[in-house]
Amino acid sequence: MLEIKGLTKKYSDSVIFKELFLTVGDGEVLSIVGPSGIGKTTLIKILAGLESADQGEVLLNEEKLAIDGSQSGAKVGLIFQDFNLFPNYTVLQNIMLAPINVLKTSKTDAKKSAQELLATLGMSDKGNLYPFQLSGGQKQRVAIARALAMQPQILAYDEPTSGLDEVSTKQVAEVVNTLKIQGVTQLIITHDQYFAELVSDRVFDFSTEVKR
Ligand SMILES: Nc1ncnc2c1ncn2[C@@H]1O[C@H](COP(=O)(O)OP(=O)(O)OP(=O)(O)O)[C@@H](O)[C@H]1O
Ligand SMILES: [Mg+2]
Repeated sequence: MLEIKGLTKKYSDSVIFKELFLTVGDGEVLSIVGPSGIGKTTLIKILAGLESADQGEVLLNEEKLAIDGSQSGAKVGLIFQDFNLFPNYTVLQNIMLAPINVLKTSKTDAKKSAQELLATLGMSDKGNLYPFQLSGGQKQRVAIARALAMQPQILAYDEPTSGLDEVSTKQVAEVVNTLKIQGVTQLIITHDQYFAELVSDRVFDFSTEVKR
């Protein structure tokens, strides 16, 4: 379970959000909506240790996460809208890289789990392709597999369906629902109402729930 208690974020003198409270249950899929510039991306970056916060507390399974930007990020897997795949690595290599370098997993084990992840995501035949040889929806699924390879406790997505057509959007929704059945807690920033309806248990609206 994720508990965000009284989180405040400023950039120099400007308050992005203040005293944000949010609890997300185990295996829950929460959509985060709200207008541009309100702090949605900033929030998930704080959770993943890519940004610091000024006040408040974040607990993940009752364990306090550092909010000063010092946390490793391994506990919260981030999936960005532009995929951020390494163009000169194959799909399998993209997924294996962090487990080998960060978790010190052996190459054999990293490859085995990468192949299992691709199978779960319906991408078994794509492991040896390069990102430029994939559709947008397939790239998004590789980005999800790469995040999952680090065995995070939570996945957070930033606009995962932007630029995807309806078929690819449905495929990403299927992945989210498959992971949900496996009990993965998922936070999804989205402007895509169709997608949100396909996957969300609950919607968190920044514009009404957050003080500025
Ligand atoms: N590194 C930074 N330095 C200063 N201000 C920043 C920085 N990063 C973000 N901001 C500001 O923080 C605010 C929130 O940005 P954020 O990216 O979290 O918005 P968002 O809700 O994700 O918007 P969008 O829907 O457009 O992606 C914006 O006003 C932005 O200008
Ligand atoms: Mg954003």
